Amino acid sequence: MAQKPHLPPEPRAFDAIVIGSGAAGLTAALNLAAHGRVAVLAKGDLAAGSTAWAQGGIAAVLDAGDTVEAHVEDTMVAGAGLNHRATVEFVAANASGAIDRLAALGVPFNPGETVSERWHLTREGGHSHRRIVHVDDATGWAVAQALIKAAQAHPNITLVPHMAAIDLITHRHVVGTRFPQRRCHGVYALDTAVATGRRRVVAFTAPATVLATGGASRVYLYSTNPDGATGDGIAMAWRAGCRVSNMEFNQFHPTCLYHPKVRNFLITEAARGEGGHLKLPDGTRFMARYDERLELAPRDVVARAIDAEMKRLGLDHVDLDLTHLGADFVRGHFPTIHARLLELGIDCTVQPIPVVPAAHYSCGGVMVDLKGRTDLAGLWAAGEVTQSGLHGANRLASNSLLECLVFGQAVADDIATTGRAEPPPEIRPWDESRVTDSDEEVVIAHNWDELRRTMWDYVGIVRTDKRLERAAHRVKTLRKEVQDYYGNFRVTADLIELRNLVTVADLIVRSARGRRESRGLHYSTDHPHMANVAVDSVLDPMQGREPG
Ligand code: FAD
Ligand code: SIN
Repeated sequence: MAQKPHLPPEPRAFDAIVIGSGAAGLTAALNLAAHGRVAVLAKGDLAAGSTAWAQGGIAAVLDAGDTVEAHVEDTMVAGAGLNHRATVEFVAANASGAIDRLAALGVPFNPGETVSERWHLTREGGHSHRRIVHVDDATGWAVAQALIKAAQAHPNITLVPHMAAIDLITHRHVVGTRFPQRRCHGVYALDTAVATGRRRVVAFTAPATVLATGGASRVYLYSTNPDGATGDGIAMAWRAGCRVSNMEFNQFHPTCLYHPKVRNFLITEAARGEGGHLKLPDGTRFMARYDERLELAPRDVVARAIDAEMKRLGLDHVDLDLTHLGADFVRGHFPTIHARLLELGIDCTVQPIPVVPAAHYSCGGVMVDLKGRTDLAGLWAAGEVTQSGLHGANRLASNSLLECLVFGQAVADDIATTGRAEPPPEIRPWDESRVTDSDEEVVIAHNWDELRRTMWDYVGIVRTDKRLERAAHRVKTLRKEVQDYYGNFRVTADLIELRNLVTVADLIVRSARGRRESRGLHYSTDHPHMANVAVDSVLDPMQGREPG
């Protein structure tokens, strides 16, 4: 059971609320805490988001032979030209400073092997230089621990784990004003730390709210992500009237472990970066038939190649072979992976690792500017929940943690300089007068499963018009059922996630149907060519339909 934080009486008023305790949320919180009292909400344990699962590392130009311009170009090439150059330049230019700040917080990056090299830099697909700082093959865990420790020690930060945000509090929840100004005033959240009895919905209010809720890859049946990656922030922002963008670009990591019992264990891209080979079961390499960069081609290319080989030969998986690198090298560079695989009966120093592609990263999300501002006054966003312009049609490996660090700081800087808003208006309490406890929880489990299967089968690595049409039809029906259920029954943690997943699925399918070309991660056999001009997909909840 999580330790109960010391909280003010309800509604719980702070100077800023951060929803999410990953790299983006805690970076924002640590910077905001210099200016006022900050609450950080997390729907599970503080380290339960994707950040702690990150393996490969963080991209930054730290080698004398590398340049920020090269990092920018590699990011734009991977993103198939859809990236916003100003964002890419902003993030790449601020990368080394972000790494220095993490090192100052105690993140033990692997040291360089020569005196001129401060950190060891590994290589990953799509990068023209060795550019990835890391902590062995468990970088995210080290980053998460350092950020959580710093936040726990800060007197202005209140950490509130097991508090699941349901909906943003906006002008529509203000009491007594006929025409309130459109803005965000905080969030309603379900206290899931209560072990027994009815779980309560609590209002947290603040002049500044930051969404840092991570991505939505659990909308797919197979994913490298932790359970909570259900797109809650994207769905909440959408319901509150914010535009979302590029939702069709779902990144499938090429090498997720294929194992009957363990479905979401990633084999880091650095394994290919350090020389691992992709092979068919008969031991032949196949990447040369797809791309001259072989195993180091960008992820969309490698994932599609694996998918094509699996379909061509009717395989369950392909193999990632590290055995030629030598046992000491493999154990030294990938200790976490080596140990975990040994527990599962696979010794990757002498046998190949069975791998399949799995949903890994949401390139689309809530639209933000370079300060992390959303469409709604009082609401900022940072990290995987956003579409900042950095990733375009395909994220370059190890650019995500970097985006969290750079935008987490940018958001905090902007909130600090925007000045304090009026004291918060009176907010309507959460209304449960028209709902009862559910007597058919099975609906949630069933719809959840059907949604993820539909997305996997019809909105996966390779798409067609017909498959997308089928997906649209099924998602529409599921959406209606989930909305009815939400309208009738008291909210639970599972219902919060399912309601958000079905919204995100709808946004993905609509965006995918609107893109009549193949670009980056969106590949359609009906529209195989890339258009001359790169255009973001933008969905606006204020146009054409009611948000919600
Ligand atoms: P997260 O770290 O996912 O945190 C989300 C937070 O939001 C959590 O605290 C969660 O509890 C909270 N939350 C969500 N919904 C709610 C809600 N309704 N109410 C309250 N709280 C909520 N990227 C790299 O750059 N390098 C890598 O090496 C790398 N490796 C990866 C390996 C794996 C296995 C995975 C899954 C991802 C990897 N990524 C990597 C991607 C990267 O880890 C994520 O994109 C990044 O960590 C996202 O950080 P975030 O702060 O945006 O969200
Ligand atoms: C990995 O280690 O392969 C993940 C890197 C990333 O997703 O950026």
